[in-house]
Amino acid sequence: MTDKRCVVVTGAASGLGKSIATAFAQNGDFVFVADIDGDAAHAVAEALGGRAVQMDIADAASVQEAASAIFEHSGRVDVLINNAGIVGGRGSVVDLDLEVLRRALTVNVLGTWTVTQAIGRKMQARKAGTIINITSIGARQPTPEMGHYEASKAAIEAITRTTAIEMAPFGIRANAIAPGPVVTPMTQRLVENPDARAAWEARIPLGTIAEVDQIAPAALFLASAAASHITGTSLTIDGGQLLK
Ligand SMILES: NC(=O)c1ccc[n+]([C@@H]2O[C@H](COP(=O)([O-])OP(=O)(O)OC[C@H]3O[C@@H](n4cnc5c(N)ncnc54)[C@H](O)[C@@H]3O)[C@@H](O)[C@H]2O)c1
Repeated sequence: MTDKRCVVVTGAASGLGKSIATAFAQNGDFVFVADIDGDAAHAVAEALGGRAVQMDIADAASVQEAASAIFEHSGRVDVLINNAGIVGGRGSVVDLDLEVLRRALTVNVLGTWTVTQAIGRKMQARKAGTIINITSIGARQPTPEMGHYEASKAAIEAITRTTAIEMAPFGIRANAIAPGPVVTPMTQRLVENPDARAAWEARIPLGTIAEVDQIAPAALFLASAAASHITGTSLTIDGGQLLK
């Protein structure tokens, strides 16, 4: 048991999750680096002085096992960041291989819900904690052939609002962060292709795709006492892309 805040970040072995985990660790919090990739999670946890937990959010048994390990270690979770997510592929609504949709819904929607159940129940019992879900501006703005991903992120925005209203009586806040495109391994192919990058950046009033450290501070803020009256919201961080 530690006096530090205990923070669980899913998908923390890479990209945005790693950056968020790093921001909390640098803030003095104890971070559980939860990821399907156990080796990569170990490397990040070691660097941060946190603890790795192998967790496949799409597998309820894996989530349960990982949650038990977390509670056994720390006795509580103060902050849950549901960050793990995937883009399953590309395809128009009429042509998409439905397996791509099924996989994205299983990981992004069911996964977020399953982790929220496993950790949120204990938060409710303690009447303490806060939850942040990572969605995407794609939940509100369509990009052709990305519908499966956007539908999954819109569902997480809805889950965030329902979580917020249901858990408010327990003093638990739930919010979302909705980034525009961010430089991570998920977007590597887009970012490395100068034409594709330029086309995307032309959609962004501030002119550039975000770096992870332009997103992570928002998670620290939403989890802090400074955000004590903020619940059920989705904070857009997109360089103004939704304005166009
Ligand atoms: N990169 C962007 O442009 C962007 C924009 C908006 C939102 N997001 C969202 O941010 C989050 C992080 O994305 P990223 O860009 O850092 O991606 P990433 O691919 O770099 O990292 C995702 C991490 O999640 C882990 N993961 C994947 N499936 C998992 C599962 N079933 N269980 C547990 N862990 C799993 C991966 O191992 C990886 O470490 C995602 O939810 C993504 O949808 C990303």
